[in-house]
Amino acid sequence: MKEKLHIIPHDHHIDRDTRQKTNGHQSCVIWFTGLSGSGKSTLANALETELVNKGYHTYLLDGDNVRTGLNSDLDFSAAARKENIRRIGEVAKLMDDAGLITLAAFVSPYREEREFVRSLLGDDHYIEVYVDCPVEECEKRDVKGLYKKARAGEISNFTGISAPFEAPEDPDIRVQTHLQSIEEGVQTIMEHLNDKLKLK
Ligand code: ADX
Repeated sequence: MKEKLHIIPHDHHIDRDTRQKTNGHQSCVIWFTGLSGSGKSTLANALETELVNKGYHTYLLDGDNVRTGLNSDLDFSAAARKENIRRIGEVAKLMDDAGLITLAAFVSPYREEREFVRSLLGDDHYIEVYVDCPVEECEKRDVKGLYKKARAGEISNFTGISAPFEAPEDPDIRVQTHLQSIEEGVQTIMEHLNDKLKLK
């Protein structure tokens, strides 16, 4: 049994509503999920640029970056990926509370973990973008040379090769990067966001 910790959270004077009003727009988390090399980071980067140019307050959380800092103690076992997403979900919740539009680009291969993040944030503040690209195409691109290493057995538990990817069944948005340009993908997401980001 875990020892009971006597922790009583404070209610802060400045809450999410106040921060959203200060920023002039709603906060939300845009969660990009997809295989390595599917284009999550490229799409998230392009979308963030568009949002910042339009005056929105944003922050981009990215797999390879978070894994060199906060989550540098985690590997790619199923349990470590679960912990990876749990921590990122909590960080994203803090950023959402800070009134930002947070873009999160992680493979996040397990449906259960993505649903955990959705439940943390609530339907109104979680937008799932499935960056859909066939593994054959990701492997052909092999921007980081990781598929080659995975095929050679130099990387174990590689998503799409030797570890599962549970594709979203009902994402809010689906972008097919082998069929659409990045600009078209950004456009698709912006259309969805336009309504969502207005202050109610
Ligand atoms: S997740 O599965 O835990 O969500 P995350 O998005 O943080 O993954 O990190 C994925 C990135 O780590 C990939 O883009 C890739 O560059 C790198 N990587 C290294 N090893 C693996 C692996 N075994 N499976 C998937 N990605 C890996």
